[in-house]
Amino acid sequence: MREERIILAGRELVIARPAEPESLIDEERFEEDEFLPYWADLWPSGIALARHLATLDLVGKRALELGCGLALPSFAAALAGADVLATDWAPEAIELVAVNAAANGLRVSGTVLDWRSEQLPDTPFDLVVAADVLYEERNAVPLLRVLSRTVAPGGHALVADPGRRHAATFFEQAQAAGWAVQRLAAVGLPAGWIVALDRQARTTG
Ligand SMILES: C[S@@+](CC[C@H](N)C(=O)[O-])C[C@H]1O[C@@H](n2cnc3c(N)ncnc32)[C@H](O)[C@@H]1O
Repeated sequence: MREERIILAGRELVIARPAEPESLIDEERFEEDEFLPYWADLWPSGIALARHLATLDLVGKRALELGCGLALPSFAAALAGADVLATDWAPEAIELVAVNAAANGLRVSGTVLDWRSEQLPDTPFDLVVAADVLYEERNAVPLLRVLSRTVAPGGHALVADPGRRHAATFFEQAQAAGWAVQRLAAVGLPAGWIVALDRQARTTG
């Protein structure tokens, strides 16, 4: 393990992560589901989204993170006052979220959740966040479906993306499904963006 130190909302967070993510590559898991240990890196989109969330007042809000990896946005949302559930399909990621949350004195729940699953949390969330999850074309449809089922009426989603090839199509699909899509400035993502998807204007999908 190695430690990353990140300052959010004036607090230094210490995030433990695998020192060599490539050493976690498992050919059987790749054959089965194209699983790669992407969860073990701290991606620029996650850092940018965490920095954005740390500026918000989320007291009293319920937040969900999809594909959280090391879950920096979840930690930032907890610092901003939200009640947070961090999720990823990699059980190792969720185990480390618990360790890092405890080490930093933060309350963040974690659970294994594959965004293609039919088993989604029952109660919708005020805010659903995700960073760098649009790197495969196949991710778009299930992610849009999860957002439509987990964002509460009047709630919204924030998706950070570093400029992946398939991201623009995802946001066009979201707009076509009735989401109000607004690009926000994203510090630290020169070729990317944080996009707000607002459920209020949503009519279908
Ligand atoms: C590029 S990484 C980004 C990690 C983190 N959000 C960040 O920005 O640092 C993509 C993440 O999506 C997760 N992921 C990939 N496919 C998934 C699926 N079907 N369901 C849930 N999580 C998934 C990976 O395990 C990984 O943590």
